[in-house]
Amino acid sequence: MLDRSKVTDEVRARVQAELPEVEEIRSPELRALVIEAWATALAASSFGAIGEIEPSGNPGVNTLQRGSQTDHIRGVTRMALAMAEQLEAQLPDLRIDRDILIAGALCHDIGKPWEFDPANRRRWEADPHGSGLPSIRHPAFGVHVCLTVGLPEQVAHCAAAHSGEGELLVRSLENTIIHHADYAFWGIARAGGLLRPESIAELKMRH
Ligand SMILES: [Fe+2]
Repeated sequence: MLDRSKVTDEVRARVQAELPEVEEIRSPELRALVIEAWATALAASSFGAIGEIEPSGNPGVNTLQRGSQTDHIRGVTRMALAMAEQLEAQLPDLRIDRDILIAGALCHDIGKPWEFDPANRRRWEADPHGSGLPSIRHPAFGVHVCLTVGLPEQVAHCAAAHSGEGELLVRSLENTIIHHADYAFWGIARAGGLLRPESIAELKMRH
């Protein structure tokens, strides 16, 4: 499914331009792996850029009226960072790994190029009982991407368990922040009238 030979410097450069928060990661190795992971996820899909992916939590669910999927990824990352900074200032005993937090937030939805790919959706919708619909949700596919490129387990955990799947395990501190930032993003977008009315999910919906 993932063909790393299709990853080009052009796609890497596009990812870097779309996600300027990557520069906030202090470790150069981790920074490069986040870019590699997104470029690998895109190269295995019909999308050439993160901004081409429908700006929704799930396909057709919680869709922004305006903007792109990068607004979601960047918004969650910035909120997660702000939460961490504000709470660390207030609660000095809190020990948040800033690099893992940023990398985890940037990669939490890295499985979306797979789950949102129109070619995959057509295939699954044609035979849901044969393939599943979707066959693999973005959190699980995100783990595949993260571990394939060599991202640390703590980052793969954020892809795996930022959403409903995380109810089956104990989330790490960094992933707990990302989970709340992710849900807050959609809840605030909804309250602010930023979602397409026909796409609005009940709060129990998983994203
Ligand atoms: Fe998300």
